[in-house]
Amino acid sequence: MNTMLNVALPKGRLGEKVYAMFEKAGFPCPAIKENNRKLIFENKEVGVRYFWVKPSDVAIYVERGAADVGVAGKDILLEYNPDVYELLDLNIGKCDMAVAAKADFKDDRNKTLTVATKFTNIAKRYYASQGRDIDIIHLNGSIELAPILGLSDVIVDIVETGATLKENKLEVVEKFLPISARLIANKANFKFKYQIIENIMAELKAQTEIK
Ligand code: PRP
Repeated sequence: MNTMLNVALPKGRLGEKVYAMFEKAGFPCPAIKENNRKLIFENKEVGVRYFWVKPSDVAIYVERGAADVGVAGKDILLEYNPDVYELLDLNIGKCDMAVAAKADFKDDRNKTLTVATKFTNIAKRYYASQGRDIDIIHLNGSIELAPILGLSDVIVDIVETGATLKENKLEVVEKFLPISARLIANKANFKFKYQIIENIMAELKAQTEIK
C-alpha cells in the first residue's frame, strides 16, 4: 500500500520557500537541496515524496490525484478552477493581478479594448464586471511586449515588484486582485490521507501565523 504523501511543489523561487515550510513542518528531504535535475525526491522515514512541477501545472497533478497535495497560486486556481480542496493561504508568493498599459495610453470607452494575457478567464470576468467589451489575445509569456508592439491596448498580468513593467516602460492602470500561494489537496486522497494532511496543514498554519 502506498502510504507516502505525494507533494507537488512549484518549481522555482516560490517552490524553495514552500519546501522550507514543509521541512520546518517536520517533512524534511535533504536530497532535494542537491543541485541536480532530478524531479522526484523522497524520504521514506517521514513518508513524503516531493516532485517539482511547473507552477501552472501543480493544480492538474493534484486534481488528477498524481499528487495528494500541492501549492498553487490563487491566480492559477481562479483561472483554471480545478476541482480540488483549497486548504490554506500560505501567505507567501504575494503579488497582484493588474491591468497595465503604456504610460501614454488613453482609454476610449467607445472602442473595444484589446487585452493580451495568459489569464484569459480572469481578464474576461474582470472586464465583464466593468461592463466593458474586450477582444482577448491569449499569449503564453512575455506579455509586456504586446502593448509595446501595438498587439494590444493593455495587458492583464501578475505584478510583484513592478520591475518588469518599469523596465518595459509600462504602468499599472489598476491592481484588481491580490494573489498568494495556497495549499491544495486532491478531494479523494484527502479522505484517505486525512491524518497526515491535517498534521501538515496545522504545522504550516502555525508558520503562516508567526509571520
Ligand atoms: C511574472 C509576470 C511578470 C513578472 C512580474 O512572470 O508575468 O512578467 O512576473 O514580476 P515583477 O513585478 O516583480 O517584475 P514570471 O516570472 O512568473 O514568469 P512567466 O513570464 O513565465 O509568467
